[in-house]
Amino acid sequence: MKNILFVASEGVPFIKTGGLADVVGSLPKCIDKEYFDVRVIIPRYTCMKPAMQEKCSYFHHFYMDFNWHEEYVGILQAEVEGIKYYLIDNEKYFGGFKPYSDNALFEIEKYAYFSKAALAILPVIGFRPDVIHCHDWQTGLIPVYLKERFAGDEFFRGIKSVMTIHNLKFQGKWDVKTVQSITGLPDYYFAPDKLEAYKDANLLKGGLVFADAITTVSNTYAEEIKTSFYGEGLDGLMNARSGDLRGIVNGIDYTDFNPETDPYIEKQYDAVNFRKEKIKNKRALQKELGLNQDDKAMMIGIVSRLTDQKGLDLIAYVMDELCQDNVQIVVLGTGEERYENMFRHFAWKYSGKVSANIYYSEELSHKIYAACDAFLMPSLFEPCGLSQLMSLRYGTVPIVRETGGLKDTVEPYNEYESKGTGFSFTNYNAHEMLDAIRYAEKIYYDKKREWNKIIDRAMAVDFSWHVSALKYQEMYDWLIG
Ligand code: ADP
Ligand code: GLC
Repeated sequence: MKNILFVASEGVPFIKTGGLADVVGSLPKCIDKEYFDVRVIIPRYTCMKPAMQEKCSYFHHFYMDFNWHEEYVGILQAEVEGIKYYLIDNEKYFGGFKPYSDNALFEIEKYAYFSKAALAILPVIGFRPDVIHCHDWQTGLIPVYLKERFAGDEFFRGIKSVMTIHNLKFQGKWDVKTVQSITGLPDYYFAPDKLEAYKDANLLKGGLVFADAITTVSNTYAEEIKTSFYGEGLDGLMNARSGDLRGIVNGIDYTDFNPETDPYIEKQYDAVNFRKEKIKNKRALQKELGLNQDDKAMMIGIVSRLTDQKGLDLIAYVMDELCQDNVQIVVLGTGEERYENMFRHFAWKYSGKVSANIYYSEELSHKIYAACDAFLMPSLFEPCGLSQLMSLRYGTVPIVRETGGLKDTVEPYNEYESKGTGFSFTNYNAHEMLDAIRYAEKIYYDKKREWNKIIDRAMAVDFSWHVSALKYQEMYDWLIG
């Protein structure tokens, strides 16, 4: 039996702000239990839903040397669908109304604490991983601490680490002196070939330098981050480590996201009866959100964090033009205020056609994936993207920009060869996007049989985890040797 430990800042079903949580919640379940014992460490945020808090029970606590004092480390444990979770409890760091704060320095201190604590609890819980699988900048210090602080300890010797990049944009940067003081790492680590990048200390960079392998969540993104446009200043390092960098595309949980059994949606349907049944979800959603009751209008969904990554500037630019067409637009998301207000404004201006739902709701997200005809995701960059995979699963045709995982998972419609699962455009240009949407409209309105064949193909592609989970297993085997 090989032991694998996931460490991440969020994970379904405990806490979720984006796709990272979906991956951390679903991938471990799909790793072969006969050969691997996969366990997960996440923080115990006090903003977790009460029902999830109740699933956790106290295991142990101790004090850890951190940032010039002894800091409390509580360990809670839980088991969900056969996976053991350990949640690190500390109210100073994980209290508050949401998992992440806007105070960048506090975030650095918080996740430096988390990374160190994740290693410190291992002897206490009696689990010695063969591989620690780290996710994003919040866990970047783990491969570093593993090589430094914990290397002298027999228990930790030989543990391998993997760093998975879900989003290279977030790196955890602050000035060297402060980070050195918080982490207690010696001078040696704060050099340009280690944690230092452009004079600052960079936690993700530390992870990328010291991890034994690096992965990211699609092949195209693995290539893109070697270029200056997508490299976020680390393209040099990505090139230098390209031999250790692989792209493994994300999957989604095919049980949680299943139109045949989804408890949140008005009318369940499948790949055979969607022609008749799917529309009942559209009618119900129009009613629920106060949109015009109109079977014909092409309904376009957006479920997204509202940040510049997601291409919302393109939408803002052509929204008036788009709203001249016979379409409805349903948005669910939270994020930057300018985007929240932009969608609120259009919902007011085009009431009955545009619905802006500026909050977080699992339930509404499922209703949107099921009800809409098309799903819009014109991202500026997209390491993988899960929303388009959910849309495909629900027979909701994605319209995407050809970047990162969007390019790898949505095959553009080709009317001559009768191929493709969605619509796409290449350049980050609002009118290119509008052209793609209007091309989709044309097929939707004038060639319904063709449109339905796109849905047939979309619902037939398989983005469950089973292929990608095997690739992770191969990597773990290769690392352990
Ligand atoms: P990212 O991780 O960059 O946010 P992904 O497409 O990988 O993008 O994953 C986003 C996930 O978050 C999807 O599961 C999507 O349904 C969900 N999501 C985003 N915003 C909301 C929201 N406001 N309410 C419910 N789910 C949301
Ligand atoms: C990040 C990326 C998204 C990816 C998700 C899960 O949040 O923005 O593209 O799907 O991580 O890997």
